[in-house]
Amino acid sequence: MKKIALFLAASAMLATSAVAQRADPRPSYHFAPAKNWMNDPNGLVYYDGEYHLFYQYNPHGDRWGHMNWGHAVSRDLVHWQELPIAIPETADVMAFSGSAVVDWNNTSGFGRNGKPPLIAIYTGHNPKAKLQSQYVAYSNDRGRTWTVHGEVLSVGSPEFRDPKVFWHAATKRWVMVAVMALENRALIFTSPNLKQWTFASSFGPAGGRGKNWECPDLFELPVEGGAAGEKRWVLGINLGDNAVGGGSGGQYFVGDFDGAKFTPVPGWPGDAQWMDYGADFYAAVSWNDLPKDDPRRIWIGWANDWRYAEAIPTWPSRGLMTVPRQVTLRKSAAGYRIAQMPVREVASLHGTRQDFAATLDETPTALPVQGGSADLEFAIDGGSSEQVAITLTDGEGYQTVVGVNPTVDEVFVDRTRSGPHFHHAFANRHVAPVDLKSRTVRLRILADESILEVFINDGERTITDRFFRGGGPLRWSASARGGNAKLKLTAWTMQDGAVKAEAE
Ligand code: FRU
Repeated sequence: MKKIALFLAASAMLATSAVAQRADPRPSYHFAPAKNWMNDPNGLVYYDGEYHLFYQYNPHGDRWGHMNWGHAVSRDLVHWQELPIAIPETADVMAFSGSAVVDWNNTSGFGRNGKPPLIAIYTGHNPKAKLQSQYVAYSNDRGRTWTVHGEVLSVGSPEFRDPKVFWHAATKRWVMVAVMALENRALIFTSPNLKQWTFASSFGPAGGRGKNWECPDLFELPVEGGAAGEKRWVLGINLGDNAVGGGSGGQYFVGDFDGAKFTPVPGWPGDAQWMDYGADFYAAVSWNDLPKDDPRRIWIGWANDWRYAEAIPTWPSRGLMTVPRQVTLRKSAAGYRIAQMPVREVASLHGTRQDFAATLDETPTALPVQGGSADLEFAIDGGSSEQVAITLTDGEGYQTVVGVNPTVDEVFVDRTRSGPHFHHAFANRHVAPVDLKSRTVRLRILADESILEVFINDGERTITDRFFRGGGPLRWSASARGGNAKLKLTAWTMQDGAVKAEAE
């Protein structure tokens, strides 16, 4: 029924509009708003049984502009319900990116009836005054309605934004990290009450530089493979352009944080360490206030790239989040590196399971994967081959390839032939360096109609790429070039996750 309604709506649109718009197959378990434009995740916080996902949202169209905080909630990180706008733009300021906390001790005084308030700390972007400064809004009804308290921190800059705030237990105060975007600096401030902020320190420029540093995050993680009880801090910094996948991407630093200053571990490389090697993982930030019995660090990214974000051929919404990912920190010979895997809750959407094994050669072997929405676990042995390819082919012959090149230690996503042309920066190939001396690799691929999230060797590297198709159903196949390879696959169909409010 829903599909028919959508088809009729799309045909009506085509009949009345000069621009041919096509309703693409919506992702089934990645969050997208019902309609219009979405960018960065904002205000990720857990409270009273709900994970909140706020996001940069334009309620007036499907390109960037009129930034509001859109809002969705979930009880399990995989079923999302879209709610009305949380924080609107005002006559003076757009509501740019930021974070949210539960003020458990009511340090702000905004609590009511003995219940802690939710506090959003975000950037007010004032285009007329050419000023970006930090604002506070609060909610006493589980994030459903918000009162803007107003500006709490300005340094008089037009490019000071994206505050990430969290409670620092050791020093018993709030910490904010925000960026001076053009200068490539992260500034750290502290506060007793979320309203008065004191400058503490500055970090950068460092690592990947350029236009712009955006959406910082700072959190502590235990070190797997480290000394007993070792913990380190991860500073995430997003880079607007010229990241490893071409356009926007995230980098991170590992070090120590004493409540005032972030110091990278000795020997931390001077070049950027990337969160993800694809083009479509940006503005990733993590949840605050997960339940006490849940020690995980979970983040989510905007699956898009500023180079072509406003041109991607989806309708009636333009903007998609990745699945929430658990972030961990490992120490190996290479040093401290993050790893990412889909949160375990993703498995609760599994439908039918199929197990499959094949020896591959140049003739494509059909894989038992139905359609564009699937959770796939591959174990690949490159054998004597020089390239193993997992290929998605649509009804018009467009192809997106996930490949393994054992001879050059690469896993890649090639979308040079994935869908009709819509932007010159899109058709490219993204490579993650992976040690393939053993010639074996494990790939977990989350596919969802227009996105591939590839987790390599338990998330030691990831490649996140959107793809768009000409039409028709997707077919999956695998092949090996230059020799034989072995493939084992466990494939699950996926049940719908994201609540699909129909576009009005
Ligand atoms: C990152 C970003 C942020 C800013 C927001 C505006 O994608 O540019 O720095 O707050 O988007 O929508």
